[in-house]
Formats: sequence, C-alpha cells, structure tokens
Amino acid sequence: MTEITTRNARQLAAAHLKEAYGIDVNDPEQLAELKINVKNYRKRIEQTFNRQNILYKAGTYINSSLFNGNQPIDFLFKNWKPDKQKDVAKAKEVANRCFLLAKKMFEEPQKVLLSGKPGVGKTSLAMAMLNALCEKDLTVMTVSTLELARLMSKRIENKDVQDKLDYLQNLMGTVDVLLLDDFGTEGSMKNESKSVRQDLQEYLFRIANSRIDLNRNEVVNSTIITTNCSSKDLETMYNPKLISRLLPHKADNIVDFTALEDMRV
Ligand SMILES: Nc1ncnc2c1ncn2[C@@H]1O[C@H](COP(=O)(O)OP(=O)(O)O)[C@@H](O)[C@H]1O
Ligand SMILES: [Mg+2]
Repeated sequence: MTEITTRNARQLAAAHLKEAYGIDVNDPEQLAELKINVKNYRKRIEQTFNRQNILYKAGTYINSSLFNGNQPIDFLFKNWKPDKQKDVAKAKEVANRCFLLAKKMFEEPQKVLLSGKPGVGKTSLAMAMLNALCEKDLTVMTVSTLELARLMSKRIENKDVQDKLDYLQNLMGTVDVLLLDDFGTEGSMKNESKSVRQDLQEYLFRIANSRIDLNRNEVVNSTIITTNCSSKDLETMYNPKLISRLLPHKADNIVDFTALEDMRV
C-alpha cells in the first residue's frame, strides 16, 4: 500500500476520485462541478444536524410533560367524531375553531382558552392542536395543573421534587406552546376557600411572565388552557394579575364547549 504523505496526498486523492467516481480533477469543468457537490453535501449534513437538534429539543419538552394520573393522552384532529355529540354542528364548530387557532398560533403566538364541563373533549382537542404544531417543528409541552399542585405539596420534604420543579419552570417558561390542562382543578379540590396555594400561584406567575413581553404587551410564546371553571371561579382561586396574564382577552381565542355532552365512558 502506498504511504500517504503531505506531498503525495493530493495526487493520491486525485487518483482515488478518478478510480472511484471517474472524476478528473485536472479537468476544470469537472472540478467546478465537484466543488458544487461538496457544498451541497455539507449543506445536507448541516440540515441533518439541525433536524437532530430540533428533534432532541422537542423531545426534552415532550418527555417532561405532566399528565393527569401520569396517563399521557394522544389525539389528532382526524380522531374527532362530531356525530358522537347530539349537537353535531356545535361539535364540528369547536374542532374547526381549535384547528384554526392552531394555524393562527403557527403564524403568531396566541393565548387560547378551552372551557366547558368535564368529558366534552377539551384536552383531546388541545392535544390535537399540540400535535399539529409539533409537526411544524414548534416545541410543545403539556402540564396538568393538578399534578403540578401535587409536586408543590411534596417539595419541602423532598429536595428532588424541588429540583424537578425548577427544571420544569424553565421548560414551561420557554416552550413554544404550553398546554396548562385542567386549570383550576387544583383550587376546587382541597381547601374551603378555593384559593390556590401561594407557592403555586407564584410559580405560575413567574412562568406567565416569561411567556409575555410586559413592556411591549405582546404574547411571546403560546399558551393553551383547558378548564372546567368559569373565569369568575378562576378569579376567586388565583390572583387576578395571574389570570389576566394567562387567559386570553380576545373573544376569538376562547372556545366554549358548553353545548357539548360528557363523552367519558
Ligand atoms: N367528539 C369526540 N370524538 C372522539 N372522542 C371524543 C370526542 N369527545 C370526547 N372524546 C373522548 O372522550 C374522552 C374525554 O375527553 P377529554 O378530551 O378528556 O375531555 P375534557 O378534557 O373536556 O374533560 C376522551 O377519551 C376523548 O378522546
Ligand atoms: Mg381534560
């Protein structure tokens, strides 16, 4: 085998190119083509690398999601069956509005509220929105506020839980689309006054603040909230400042599921 030295490297590379690919590097035309190909090749590698980075980042958010009872939910718009409901037109309308809101979110960050009784399909359609946006390479994450409250209650005695909460706070503050699922349930379950524990309020307040630009009064990252509570109920549980930051103020961004029926088996 010929030894490769700096002196003969060019020669050997040229011979290899000629033998393996039939490319004559002494032919200026072929050399020009080769340079273009090398450039394309580099671009392809960069694209693959970027794609891997995107997928890795997407996975970090998705894998940190907190679902009710640790049961991940998956749902696509095509799984929505309007004829399951008595009011088929209304069922079509809510899904259509969610679909259009996801589209709008892709163009510009939005705050969206899906409200109505339990079992009417709010979480399912919110997941369909997340899936659609994830396909477009936006990062998405689901956090059940009930599970978050459960973690909060364990954080003092368990240092790992506090670390997890800190980690989640960073992700919840920065993810492109955050779904806060079953917002308000954490207030109505335990205490008489319905007021949500102060540490959870402060925690959510920090997250809300990183998702909006207070100076410019602009939404920076999208938030979808599902709730069984009325806005009035939410205001008795949470500081009105937090509610004002998290909930949408535009009527177009509020989807009311009131006319639908509980679909749970
Ligand atoms: N129109 C529908 N088509 C298909 N499945 C539905 C529909 N509405 C509700 N479901 C199913 O009913 C169950 C309850 O829905 P869910 O989204 O959890 O309701 P909510 O979040 O409003 O309590 C889920 O299993 C969901 O997939
Ligand atoms: Mg739900």
